[in-house]
Amino acid sequence: MRIGVLTGGGDCPGLNAVIRAIVRRGGPAHKYVGFRHGWRGVLEGETVVLDAETTRGLLHRGGTILGTSRTNPFKTVDGPDRVIATMAALGVDALVAIGGDDTLGAAERLGREHSIPIVGVPKTIDNDISATDVTFGFHTAVQVATDAIDRLQTTAESHDRVMVVEVMGRNAGWIAATAGLAGGADVILIPEDPFDVDQVCAHLQRRHQRTNFSIVVVAEGAVPVAGTLAVTSGEVDEFGHERLGGISTFLQGEIEARTGWETRVANLGHILRGGTPSAYDRVLATRFGVEAIDAVLDCDFGTMVALRGTDIVRVPIAEAVGELKTIDRKLFEVAEVFFG
Ligand code: F6P
Repeated sequence: MRIGVLTGGGDCPGLNAVIRAIVRRGGPAHKYVGFRHGWRGVLEGETVVLDAETTRGLLHRGGTILGTSRTNPFKTVDGPDRVIATMAALGVDALVAIGGDDTLGAAERLGREHSIPIVGVPKTIDNDISATDVTFGFHTAVQVATDAIDRLQTTAESHDRVMVVEVMGRNAGWIAATAGLAGGADVILIPEDPFDVDQVCAHLQRRHQRTNFSIVVVAEGAVPVAGTLAVTSGEVDEFGHERLGGISTFLQGEIEARTGWETRVANLGHILRGGTPSAYDRVLATRFGVEAIDAVLDCDFGTMVALRGTDIVRVPIAEAVGELKTIDRKLFEVAEVFFG
């Protein structure tokens, strides 16, 4: 078989480990075509050779050797036909699409509406894809955020400051809640629960009766109860998502104005996504890659590999897309025990 591989959406530690695993497990009996920059490479026929040589030494390497983009084949004129044409021209029999909700959503539609043989692999540091317990990249992001919170604690304490730490998490607060719990945050704000700034400040004021510093962890997608704020850029990508980032600066101003305490911001942003994957993510990504190529060789198309408990399984891609996996309330309740 000739198998095309693409990585779409935001990059994520572990993408290269998946690519390596696909090529190594599939072996020399098959050929592998890497599409550059997600669906864009498939639309434009931009490829790189994937073989034992070009995928050597990738296990620990962050980012994606294929490049990525947020190109949506359904937002391009004749997009699905162009995907079919590229595959036919290159003799590609099937695709492995490694991506988040958007990339997998397009994969599911291409399979359902255009009979394109695709297997999906879920990735995102946000951990918000349904039908899998965990996505690779999440563990690394949580570790990086936790290390940062640890460092911010000592400087916050030395200077009697409130530190507002912003982490990624557009629709779900998995990173904020998990890293906040691990780092001992005093307040955690997540997209699932709109926050009341007065309550946040009242909470901090109670805490500051007995101590002199606080750590507030906020997910980029967290919003105040009252409604919208001018914290987004207004720019949207091809999947209609606004560029986020800035809620921490808003909070900084509000906390300082209401409490009088010096408040500083650390926006961790893309630092959480870059660099080498954790051991956990290398192993999960490798297991996903092995199962994905097995699914292709079994012609089990329209499926996505997933972690369920300790097992790697195949689920319909349709189960994974459309509805994002929001925070586990029980996890958040545990984090709340330690607020303040
Ligand atoms: O991959 C998802 C994500 O990490 C979101 O949390 C975040 O909003 C988005 O990526 C930002 O990515 P970019 O800056 O590459 O558009």
